[in-house]
Amino acid sequence: MCQRRGICNPVYSLLRPALFMLDAERAHRLTIAVLKLWPGHAPTEADPVLATSVAGLAFPNPVGLAAGFDKDAEVFRPMLGLGFGSVEVGTLTPLPQGGNAKPRLFRLAEDKAVINRMGFNNGGQAAAKARLAGRGPGIVGVNIGANKDSADRIADYVAGVRAMAGVADYLTVNISSPNTPGLRALQDKGALKELLAAVREARGPAGPPVFLKVAPDLTASDVDDIAAVSCAQGVDALIVSNTTVSRPALRSCHAGEAGGLSGVPLRDLALERLRDLRSATGGAMPLIAAGGIASGADAYARIRAGASLVQLYTALVYEGPGLARRICRELKALLARDGFDRLEEAVGSAAA
Ligand SMILES: Cc1cc2nc3c(=O)[nH]c(=O)nc-3n(C[C@H](O)[C@H](O)[C@H](O)COP(=O)(O)O)c2cc1C
Repeated sequence: MCQRRGICNPVYSLLRPALFMLDAERAHRLTIAVLKLWPGHAPTEADPVLATSVAGLAFPNPVGLAAGFDKDAEVFRPMLGLGFGSVEVGTLTPLPQGGNAKPRLFRLAEDKAVINRMGFNNGGQAAAKARLAGRGPGIVGVNIGANKDSADRIADYVAGVRAMAGVADYLTVNISSPNTPGLRALQDKGALKELLAAVREARGPAGPPVFLKVAPDLTASDVDDIAAVSCAQGVDALIVSNTTVSRPALRSCHAGEAGGLSGVPLRDLALERLRDLRSATGGAMPLIAAGGIASGADAYARIRAGASLVQLYTALVYEGPGLARRICRELKALLARDGFDRLEEAVGSAAA
């Protein structure tokens, strides 16, 4: 699919108006259905300039697909074939759940943004595990969460680690979705310490690396607490960030919808939080940037600010399936312009 450079984007520009006439969630389901029909595709090969290692994993390039696109691990192979260096599936909860009432996904086209209040709709960990078993090459992370009605949320994360560790290259503990009431309280110091200690014990010494995904809506003391607890509990990387509940100036008629905002209006806030966490961790912990990344320049700014990898979702809606490859091309041009032979040399090169 899209082997020839640049063919995806013109084709997508023709298809996009039709896709945008559909309700956003229906368009997403259709996209997943089409991707599922696509013949298998080999994952992206390691690029000599862009390949990088994080938490002992060899990423062929730093551009990953963020969680939420492939919640049920249905299309990670075609997405790896589209040039992503990694795919994060999920969020998966122990039990299947339907999520919030529809409509719950809104395109803000004038703002190149999305608001979602999906609420962890997913088919549960067991079904996804069966799809991931014996999955072949390519880096696939599994993002885990708690069921909405769970009486013991920490127990849900422990169950997620136990269920999914065997099929994941890495696990992401997602405590930053704004759409499960009370979930983000797990970012508070005491709760986070208890959660991460339980996750670490469940993972054991031989399990996959554990990443922690945080919200962009954090105070300075939240940032300090998360950095300190994550380092102390041996978190392998921080993903900065999930969607925001804040509302910068937006033009779209959907601006008032409740939920998490992603895409271009999140970009500056997510970059700011990345800088904060880089400074709070003193460069001791790998950082993975997400939020409003839509170009090589966006990715490069995060890498220079301290990110070892980047992830994206919303820009894919607006830019189409050629985006990961385009970002890789642009990133290489920017690295060459600034005299970096390898991506890893640029990580944190603009950090304070
Ligand atoms: C429709 C939608 C669903 C999402 N679902 C999840 C999810 O289940 N788990 C999660 O950790 N993040 C989820 N996210 C957040 C993204 O992974 C990402 O962190 C965020 O959207 C910022 O990146 P972006 O601006 O490139 O989209 C979702 C985002 C969108 C737009």
